[in-house]
Amino acid sequence: MSEPREITEQSVESAVAAALAAIASAGDSAALKAVRAEHTGEKSELAQLNAELRNVPNDQKAALGKLVGGARGRVNQAFAAREHEIVAAEAAAALEAEAVDVTALPSRYTAGSRHPLALLEDRVCDVFTGMGWEIAEGPEVESEWFNFDALNFDADHPARAMQDTFFVDPPEAHLVMRTHTSPVQVRSMLDREVPIYVLAPGRVYRTDEFDATHLPVFMQFEGLAVDKGLTMAHLKGTLDHFVKSIFGDEAKVRLRPSYFPFTEPSAELDFWHPTFKTGPRWIEWGGCGMVHPNVLRSAGIDPEVYTGFAFGMGIERGLMLRNGVQDMREMVEGDIRFSQQFGMVV
Ligand code: PHE
Repeated sequence: MSEPREITEQSVESAVAAALAAIASAGDSAALKAVRAEHTGEKSELAQLNAELRNVPNDQKAALGKLVGGARGRVNQAFAAREHEIVAAEAAAALEAEAVDVTALPSRYTAGSRHPLALLEDRVCDVFTGMGWEIAEGPEVESEWFNFDALNFDADHPARAMQDTFFVDPPEAHLVMRTHTSPVQVRSMLDREVPIYVLAPGRVYRTDEFDATHLPVFMQFEGLAVDKGLTMAHLKGTLDHFVKSIFGDEAKVRLRPSYFPFTEPSAELDFWHPTFKTGPRWIEWGGCGMVHPNVLRSAGIDPEVYTGFAFGMGIERGLMLRNGVQDMREMVEGDIRFSQQFGMVV
């Protein structure tokens, strides 16, 4: 049992002061709830003073009742005001915590991107498939027969010698890392019926130095057309169309007499464009010619009925010419800043 209380101005004021102080210091709704139970609940000082009214003499009932009632009213009002403040503050805090900054930059998932060489290779393929040509492929580890013999290389042709060709052990297997994409010419002719129009892109290997203009592993694309009545004029027209598609209408191609065992006549293919960094000039870009009758024969095609033209160019060279890259090594060293110069997000 709690002690009997006396209702006086002082006891009421001290209960009110304690309640108001507790209400003011409640920081959140949980604390306020506890304060409410303690200072206005059944066991609170004010509730007990109120209960005490039963025992006061009748002539004092009105005055003391007013005193206690007024006190309880002030506490309830203070409580309601504080509750209002706390609810508002908590709502504001929740809004802030859940806020979304709609102007924030998204965090980008860098999934990598294709290499400029691969993109140029795709572009080249697109130009030819756009003319109805097919894409052909062959193995990078190639038999000597496809890489050399079927292409009319003499047994003692210098390109077979160690300084140009990576031979694969054991020597009796007669395997090489293909030195050009031309073996795909022979494979395509064996695989398909004439007429044949194929483009064969891919990696090739040579025992070259690794320097600004040579890579021991690089990419070529090979074109081959075999049909009735094909001439050098068709070859030249195809190359003209190709360079204009890739480099724009001002680009030009010129053929210069040359020699390859697998074409006759053969030509070096020079390329001209007015925006070359070094000024407008002719730059050697690849080889081409009419497919040698011996090559057609080695693929079982009658050279009396069919003729063909072929060409081969390097993709790295193409990227150098198109984008003014000075050093081929930058293309293969794997520094993503190289790709980023082409606008890629790596
Ligand atoms: N294969 C030759 C080379 O790599 C290029 C070429 C292809 C020449 C087709 C003529 C015809 O140098």
